Amino acid sequence: MLTLRVFLLCLTFNWCHGADLSNKFFPKNFQFGLSTSAYQIEGGWNEGGKGESMWDRYFHENTSRSLDGYNGDVTCDSYHRWEEDVQILKDIGVDVYRFSIAWTRILPDGTTKHINQEGVNYYLNLIKALRDNNIEPLPTLYHWDLPQHLSELGGWLNPQIATYFGDYARICYQMFGEHVKRWLTINEPKSTCLIGYGSINNAPGLELIGDGIYQCAYVQLLAHAKAYRIYDEEFRNSQGGVVSIALDHPWSEPYSDSPLDVEAANIENQFGLGWYAHPIYHGNWPQPMIERIGNRSLLEGYTFSRLPVLSNEDVEYIKGTHDYFAINIYTGYYTQHIDDYGVGEPSYWLDKGNNVFSDPSWPKSSSDWLTSYPEAMRKLLNWIKVEYNPAEVMVTENGWPDSTGTLEDQERITYMQGYLSNLLDAIDDGVNVIGYLHWSLLDVLEWNAGHTQRLGLVHVDFESANLTRTWKNSAYWYQNLLTTRCLVDNCQ
Ligand code: NOJ
Repeated sequence: MLTLRVFLLCLTFNWCHGADLSNKFFPKNFQFGLSTSAYQIEGGWNEGGKGESMWDRYFHENTSRSLDGYNGDVTCDSYHRWEEDVQILKDIGVDVYRFSIAWTRILPDGTTKHINQEGVNYYLNLIKALRDNNIEPLPTLYHWDLPQHLSELGGWLNPQIATYFGDYARICYQMFGEHVKRWLTINEPKSTCLIGYGSINNAPGLELIGDGIYQCAYVQLLAHAKAYRIYDEEFRNSQGGVVSIALDHPWSEPYSDSPLDVEAANIENQFGLGWYAHPIYHGNWPQPMIERIGNRSLLEGYTFSRLPVLSNEDVEYIKGTHDYFAINIYTGYYTQHIDDYGVGEPSYWLDKGNNVFSDPSWPKSSSDWLTSYPEAMRKLLNWIKVEYNPAEVMVTENGWPDSTGTLEDQERITYMQGYLSNLLDAIDDGVNVIGYLHWSLLDVLEWNAGHTQRLGLVHVDFESANLTRTWKNSAYWYQNLLTTRCLVDNCQ
């Protein structure tokens, strides 16, 4: 039954008809949910025994690193308001809530020398409240907030961090594993490496775009594999859950049928998604990366490839560390071949080459990197099936930013309709997509964009004393979808 409000919104915005939308029901066991992350939603940055993370340090060192001066010190204050947030999740009717655990709440300096019971209790309370409300908790162990102490040890450039990560993962499985059936190890490792270790725009703000980023990816893969294997060997029998890594990639579409553009798009997809997925599914870096980075490194005067060589032992350790494919899908691009740039400064961007751009007709969001290209959902899901043939795929993020946080967010609804319709088409194509988690529950902190980019289904008034949460139209729309499980008037 449609609520009156949703019915009126349907009439006003023509939500319920959608001529081009799939008229299939979402499968019975398909899971809908919402995603957030600790640094972006919790606040309480130095409360309850929490240690300092590299994002705390990054913003505190220089306030101009955030576009509007906001940082994660308070943000949505979910550290104190989590019960209100669980109630919202329940009212929207989600099956799953994806959140992340702040490493520094559990282990203040990142090491096991001190376990912070207050931090453990915070997540235990959250997880139990979710369970009590029939919402499956889906924790991500690491969503970009490395303990500052470990950052000072070299962070993701230091292979020893993989051991620290394994130890941290083990404690999380011990503390929370009884109530958790689905885990994610690392969120968007590519973004951490490319933006955090390849530019000044994200913590730790290093500009190592020619070499550090590849070392960072190597260490993150080792860390993911370690956390996966610890679960597999020590917990799977008793806890019976599944573990994966949340990758991200904007689908790359060849600009034309020319073999050069087709190959360029393949290179783009391999550098974007294959960089992580290929070692995890097939055991080594994708061949185009090995060749291109190797060749360019020699031309640049190196005696070895800037892409770390995986030893046989590494290959065996990383390969097969997946139980389901978790993917964040926001957008897509056209890719056009361009002749090789020749030797230049060592750089990821030159290594892959290619001209990458959006079609001018695709609706633009308030973020430069995100236009709406709904077919990206179907095409990328199909590509994943062809390349990796995973048993199950879960879309762990998809979302639309605007700069105002308007409650009348028809653009977001249109975006979701298009992407979800393409997700249904991908299921029809034979991809076993088991869930869709929208980003985000609230207008969480959008990293260095502060609150200038709002992606929540629920608005947060950051000027108000109690950080008032107000449902946007998209929250009502999602609530209705979760009841009807159908994008149009009548599904078959
Ligand atoms: C991906 C990241 O996981 C998340 O932290 C970020 O807020 C969203 N994309 C939107 O940019």
